[in-house]
Amino acid sequence: MATQTLTLEQRLENAKAALEKADQAQVLKYYDQLTDDQKEQILGQIESIDWVECTRLVQSHVLNKPEFKAPESIQPDPYLPRIPGKDLADRYKKAKKAGEKLLREGKVAAFTVAGGQGTRLGWDGPKGSYPATAIRKVPLFCCFAEFIRKAEQKFNTTIPWYIMTSPINDAATRAFFEEHGNFGLRPDNIMIFPQGMMPAFDAKTGKALLETPDSLAMAPNGHGGSLKALYTSGALEDMKNRGIEQLSYVQVDNPLVKVIDPLFIGLHAEANGDMSSKALPKAYPKEKVGVFCIVDGKHSVIEYSNLPDELAEMRDDDGELVYKGGSIAIHVISTDFIERINTQDGGFALPYNRADKKVGYWDEANQVTVKPEEPNAVKLETFVFDALPMCAESIILETDRIEEFSPIKNADEPGALDCPATCKQGQTERAARWLAEYGVVIPRKEDGSVDAVIELSHMKAIDPEDLKELDLPSEIDAGTEVLI
Ligand code: UD1
Repeated sequence: MATQTLTLEQRLENAKAALEKADQAQVLKYYDQLTDDQKEQILGQIESIDWVECTRLVQSHVLNKPEFKAPESIQPDPYLPRIPGKDLADRYKKAKKAGEKLLREGKVAAFTVAGGQGTRLGWDGPKGSYPATAIRKVPLFCCFAEFIRKAEQKFNTTIPWYIMTSPINDAATRAFFEEHGNFGLRPDNIMIFPQGMMPAFDAKTGKALLETPDSLAMAPNGHGGSLKALYTSGALEDMKNRGIEQLSYVQVDNPLVKVIDPLFIGLHAEANGDMSSKALPKAYPKEKVGVFCIVDGKHSVIEYSNLPDELAEMRDDDGELVYKGGSIAIHVISTDFIERINTQDGGFALPYNRADKKVGYWDEANQVTVKPEEPNAVKLETFVFDALPMCAESIILETDRIEEFSPIKNADEPGALDCPATCKQGQTERAARWLAEYGVVIPRKEDGSVDAVIELSHMKAIDPEDLKELDLPSEIDAGTEVLI
């Protein structure tokens, strides 16, 4: 029966029954002291949670650490090279054309997962609102919007943009888009929807934590939650109504990512791909990225922490790493695949992963929410790449760090990686590479890095070929800031 038709008392009875079965009755400890609105809030949270599943997960993932089961057979999942050799040149040409055709026919949408909490960056607001570009300091969301606008112009098309938030940053994300006039995109082509949440559990007791008397400590259920949220939010239906066949999946933290890549989309579509991925060759054996593997005959990503050292370090006769393809969370997913996994018998379930985190909890004695100094709780997340084993077909395309990967994950500090400072450098390096292709002289320091700051707006170029149409300087002066 729909919960709206039940009285608060009936809802309370149902909640009590579910919680008692799950051995989580403490969640209602303060219920009698709450106002009706507060009661609504906590009952709503309780009703949104599958407590039967939580009972199982508390045993397997909180009170015990899930053990990684060594696969029976494992081999690297080969990827297509970034630059095709003679044998692949025709396939790539055809694929790029096919990708462009899909774009022109309005069959491609962009998708950004932006439900994460961005705690490592320490930015107070949705990560997409972080001022990311090297000179103009436009926010990450604006970078992606400019990419989409340029691609729409280039392919004379409409590219709807789906953005997954979480209940924690959904309202702030919507407000940010409104405040910025949707970054020049039509609001009816943008759909923002929140992902699901999971309770955080006390790492020692396995009890769901209360953040305040009327609220559980909840966290987004991982980017794997997107595959369900696309379905339950109505986004998939909206895509189907628009005739969208392929969804280009990117993370909110990487301003260099090709939000739309005709070659990648085309290679995936021509191979009848369900979900395809981009791979970055690992810079060194134990780089902290998941690795593309074929596990027991299925496409998979194995997290670096689960890949045995001897495999991580294994080299072939040419001295190349055997397990080399690192996952940087760039995918194309076919809408048919999203529909299929959600509607097949019993739906689908991605495995949960345990993350030990600092989670605020209610301190009854002092009537405050305590922010712990050390990890005290377990959050449970699913990963989108864990859908790969469900794919019948999937391709992997190599990309390159300078071209496409300079995420902002951490705050700036000396020696930090994947932070605003390294991203500024990354943007400059890519712009310099593209400009040099067109004869622009680039000043370089002794260590080979560019001796300038260059920002190449996506409104001007999303691919080196777009520079053809621009009036470019013949050289960049050392030590200057140049915005193109
Ligand atoms: C992730 C990948 C890693 C990859 C790297 C590339 C995992 C486990 N690891 O690491 O393999 O090399 O990115 O940058 O994914 N998000 C949600 N909802 C959530 C959680 C995350 O939308 O519940 C979004 C975030 O907003 C972000 C993206 O997913 O856009 C990545 O999240 P994050 O947790 O920062 O992943 P990483 O640990 O950086």
